[in-house]
Amino acid sequence: MFVKYPEELIEEIRMNNDILDVVGEYVKLEKKGKNYFGLCPFHREKTPSFSVDNTKQMYHCFGCGKGGSVIQFVMDAENLDYIEAIKLLAEKARITLPEGESEEEKKRALKTQEIIKINTDAARFYYEQLNDKKNLDARDYLQKRKVSEGVIKKFGLGYSSNEWNLLYSFLKSKNYSDEDLISSGLILAKKSGDGYFDRFRGRVMFPIFDLRGNVIGFGGRVLDDSLPKYMNSPETLVYNKRRNLYALNFAKNSGEKRIIVVEGYMDVISLYQFGIINTVASLGTALTESQGRILKKYAEEIIISYDADTAGQAATMRGLNLLDDIGCNVKVLLIPKGKDPDEFIKANGADAFKKLVDNALSLVEYKIKVLKSQIDTTAIDGKISFLNKAADILSKIDNSVEQEMYIKKISQEYDISQESMFAEVIKRVKPKGNYKPAIKIDSTKIKPVGNKTKSDENNLVHYERIILSLLSIDNSLYRKIEDRINLEFFTLEENRKAAEIIFTKIKDKKGIVPAELLNLVSNESANNFASMIQGECNFEDNLRAILDIIKKIEVIKLDKRQKEILNMISSSGNKEDVDRLKEELKSILIQKKSM
Ligand code: GTP
Ligand code: MN
Repeated sequence: MFVKYPEELIEEIRMNNDILDVVGEYVKLEKKGKNYFGLCPFHREKTPSFSVDNTKQMYHCFGCGKGGSVIQFVMDAENLDYIEAIKLLAEKARITLPEGESEEEKKRALKTQEIIKINTDAARFYYEQLNDKKNLDARDYLQKRKVSEGVIKKFGLGYSSNEWNLLYSFLKSKNYSDEDLISSGLILAKKSGDGYFDRFRGRVMFPIFDLRGNVIGFGGRVLDDSLPKYMNSPETLVYNKRRNLYALNFAKNSGEKRIIVVEGYMDVISLYQFGIINTVASLGTALTESQGRILKKYAEEIIISYDADTAGQAATMRGLNLLDDIGCNVKVLLIPKGKDPDEFIKANGADAFKKLVDNALSLVEYKIKVLKSQIDTTAIDGKISFLNKAADILSKIDNSVEQEMYIKKISQEYDISQESMFAEVIKRVKPKGNYKPAIKIDSTKIKPVGNKTKSDENNLVHYERIILSLLSIDNSLYRKIEDRINLEFFTLEENRKAAEIIFTKIKDKKGIVPAELLNLVSNESANNFASMIQGECNFEDNLRAILDIIKKIEVIKLDKRQKEILNMISSSGNKEDVDRLKEELKSILIQKKSM
């Protein structure tokens, strides 16, 4: 499928186009249970059978069978080929594709490269300014905030001096055009029209890197209490604050399963200095869905650690819901006594902070805690109101074991019977609409596709696809089955190729998500995979399911070989051959018996 663009780039484009947003442009969607439903744009229907799974970033129509990731959707909806769909989505997400064909695309790509060069030169310039004796103020400021030399270097911190056009003169000496300098956002034109000046003056400079380590923008902080405290690069061809996260380029390589999200640049830097390197900051805005999806890709668990002030609390609740909605495993770290992570770790050290990380609250715990802080439960009215609202929260928990655990905990704490609390929660659980084919298959009863009309080959391909789907749904399964399967295990070449990429990604700790799998196969197969991932692959126990399927494949293969052998025996005249075949047959029968 990757005729032209690198797989990573295609994945970046997919991740930055939320399927709900894109499909929402064509279909009116309504939330039913976990998924969104609407009338299928690809076939005529009166009741909705077209579903979008936000968590998996996939769509599937139970009526006409079409399905896939956002890329297949755009192909079908706009009648585009793969490359055209990629182009359209890249444009939507403002991601520049390499070496486009048209003159316009080429110009854009060149300009992007030029802006990154300007940013890189500017970052070096600012960094050198920090060492200039004229700028001791800036040095002193960083020292006062206890930022070490090593961290200054690591994060490329710098200083923009108070003069009006120092950076401009420097960049002109490097022969950049005024037009490109303006496009970089670092230089502004005077209103009078007779000259240019620097956007950032008298500020400590924080370069912002993308995942590949390119400098895409800057944040700048004043040295005192003047306002605005921070100034950031404007949106440019290369900088989109809704799509990038500060320090993710470091955090993603931390080797940690979780990523901590904080509010400020200084929080990230302080934590880093204390050895906590799996931290990122959203860039002066509320967390966006794009950022959430990127985080989800790099972390198994996301911990929000915002400031304890009211604004921070509101942002925490928003971020929490956003991340939960897109299927992230999310927790909240609370900093005692109104401090931000930077102040806390400087005052209490790394171990104290790590304790806070370990004690981070789950979504439900946090919501209950906030609820408690809002309602006075000493009076009976307050208690009832609290319990009602707590039941609202508990009713939204999907996992019934977890739900029961919280019900127990809260009923104990407030001295009411578990039964009545349970009844309150159940009352609130909406009966599932009949749209949702809640296919919860018992893994012992995997649907045999082997009816009379389907051949063993068809069955094999089908089971191979289930294996690939399950691996993309739950990457951790790979470790448990890697010694049972290899690439030769897959009989269909397309499956083998997809398996190769999936295995490598999981081994390299890059991970793979279902929507990504759909881009590894032909469109026709993508329909098939999408329906499988949203339907058939909802097993109670993924590990048992995948082991069962591996076994089924092994049995089919042994049966096939057994038939071959029997044929060969009956047609062979050579006694040695027959003996050898009989030996093999015996071993097959033994293997089958032991399964
Ligand atoms: P200090 O510790 O005071 O240096 O700041 P901080 O890193 O703790 O940041 P704070 O919590 O005050 O703000 C969080 C983030 O919001 C900052 O890192 C900036 O990205 C952004 N921000 C803060 N103040 C401003 C402002 O005045 N203007 C803009 N555009 N962004 C700001
Ligand atoms: Mn701070």
